[in-house]
Amino acid sequence: ALHGVVALDGPSGTGKTTVARKLAAALGAGYLDTGAMYRVVTLAVLREGIDPDDSVAVAAFAGHVEVGVGTDPARPRARLGGEDVGEQIRAERVNGAVSAVSAVPAVRELLVTGQREIIASVLRSVGGIVVDGRDIGTVVAPDAPLKVYLTASAEVRAARRSAQDSAAGRTLTAEQALASVDRRDTLDSTRKTSPMRPAEDAVVFDTTELTIDQVIVALSELASQRG
Ligand code: C5P
Repeated sequence: ALHGVVALDGPSGTGKTTVARKLAAALGAGYLDTGAMYRVVTLAVLREGIDPDDSVAVAAFAGHVEVGVGTDPARPRARLGGEDVGEQIRAERVNGAVSAVSAVPAVRELLVTGQREIIASVLRSVGGIVVDGRDIGTVVAPDAPLKVYLTASAEVRAARRSAQDSAAGRTLTAEQALASVDRRDTLDSTRKTSPMRPAEDAVVFDTTELTIDQVIVALSELASQRG
């Protein structure tokens, strides 16, 4: 079983979330989807009628949002207050607003504090956790013994995003999917607070030519060497 934290960062469309969940299950570890937490706050901002680009209003509102996430890799849950919002947080209007909301320092401060508490609690109870995000290796868990940064070509990321979308019953063309993924990655990697980037000691892993299962095998080996 895994001991400690595996930090799994990288842009969207790399297969990161699927890899993180399967890796956690294979290692008997917990799983934390930090992107889901930013998505829950974004959904709440949109429902409240706040402009996601109004960082002052977003910062003032963020403290009122009750974000709940599960840590079982077989059943990742996302809640807003008592409501299950697992599906709503994947909607395209959330995709379009989440980078602006997650660039607000007050939002990050609140969520990073919550993430560290969840990680500490899972480490006490289960012993190991795979944490999926953009700033896990750099900010949330800088002492993680294994940090991985997944990449893939833009074409492959767009294709994976469109496959996920059509599985969920949404219809974006490959071009729209690429534009949506690219826009989000540009915003995430150029924001001032905790931009998405590999930690200095991260293993950068290009998944363009690999299947999900091949990535999991490679990462399980790394985790057993370092965990
Ligand atoms: O991982 P996912 O695509 O669900 O993340 C949604 C968005 O949440 C990202 O595009 C990014 O803006 C934000 N995010 C972040 N830091 C994290 C995880 C996600 O800023 N650790």
